[in-house]
Amino acid sequence: MTIEGKKILVTGGAGFIGSWIAETLASKNSVKVADSLKTGNKDNLKKILPKVEFTETDIRKREKLSGLIQGAEIVFHQGANVQIQASVDDPQMDADINIGGTLNVLDACRKHDVERVVFASSSAIYGNPSNIPVTESAKPSPLSPYALSKLAGESYMKLYSDLYGLKTISLRYFNVYGPRQNADSPYSGVISIFTKNVREGKPLTVFGDGEQTRDFVNVKDVVKANMLAAESKPAVGKAFNIGTGKSISLNDMISILEKKTGKKLVVKYKEKRKGDVMHSCPDISLARKILGFVPSVAFEDGLSELL
Ligand SMILES: NC(=O)c1ccc[n+]([C@@H]2O[C@H](COP(=O)([O-])OP(=O)(O)OC[C@H]3O[C@@H](n4cnc5c(N)ncnc54)[C@H](O)[C@@H]3O)[C@@H](O)[C@H]2O)c1
Repeated sequence: MTIEGKKILVTGGAGFIGSWIAETLASKNSVKVADSLKTGNKDNLKKILPKVEFTETDIRKREKLSGLIQGAEIVFHQGANVQIQASVDDPQMDADINIGGTLNVLDACRKHDVERVVFASSSAIYGNPSNIPVTESAKPSPLSPYALSKLAGESYMKLYSDLYGLKTISLRYFNVYGPRQNADSPYSGVISIFTKNVREGKPLTVFGDGEQTRDFVNVKDVVKANMLAAESKPAVGKAFNIGTGKSISLNDMISILEKKTGKKLVVKYKEKRKGDVMHSCPDISLARKILGFVPSVAFEDGLSELL
């Protein structure tokens, strides 16, 4: 199946990842974006508006969402509460959006015979995995309401595929970074915060000893994974790790930043945050085999673009 020419709806399409998906598709597809603008920003769409149709709405509003999904052939479901701390403070709100909202998306897709749904899941579902690199068959162990709600979203994706024949695919993103990522919250992606602070000459704050590792995957590669998931036949009903397969410690990342800027950076080490995982690294062989996913952006190049 080819995605070209298909009618697309992107939930959370004014956000960091969703806006890149919308922009990638805008030239060859009719694209609608539904977003509550809770953490997203309409400015992220300025290059593609008004070609892309934007509706400010909440995925918790079932009827309105259903009206937007009617006529869509492929739905990229990116809209979510993305703030882990907010999910800890208010698990009900998180579940209403990430579970209830996801169920609204799935029900509308079933009702309107949408061809395919690609869901933004998260590496958070693994918690602290016992084996690294982690494969998709590892036992999930969510450490926050956010991680649990993503896992529930995935389970609903699989159930709708098995029970109703709706073609769904879940992508477990690792640490996504790239242009447009919001750096203004303490829980934003560490790369967006670090590169912003470097640009502004501010110190970097590390929670813990800096030896924690993460797989940072560029948003261009994440968009690529979404495109492949929308087209692949054998991917239906499955969940895939989406990362580069290589992790790096925060201390090593700081060394790279110092090398690139030619400056010694001021780093403040603070107490480890509760619930933060120590090591995170995906095995991406399933995505490579079934989706044909090969990440292409080298970490140093991706960092340079942000600096
Ligand atoms: N960035 C990462 O590293 C990462 C990692 C794993 C998973 N994810 C997932 O990827 C998706 C996109 O995340 P992002 O990093 O682009 O964050 P983001 O905050 O930029 O995007 C999320 C979008 O969803 C919108 N939204 C929030 N609540 C909504 C609601 N009730 N109704 C409609 N829209 C709503 C926000 O306004 C925002 O535009 C999310 O589902 C997130 O959980 C991201």
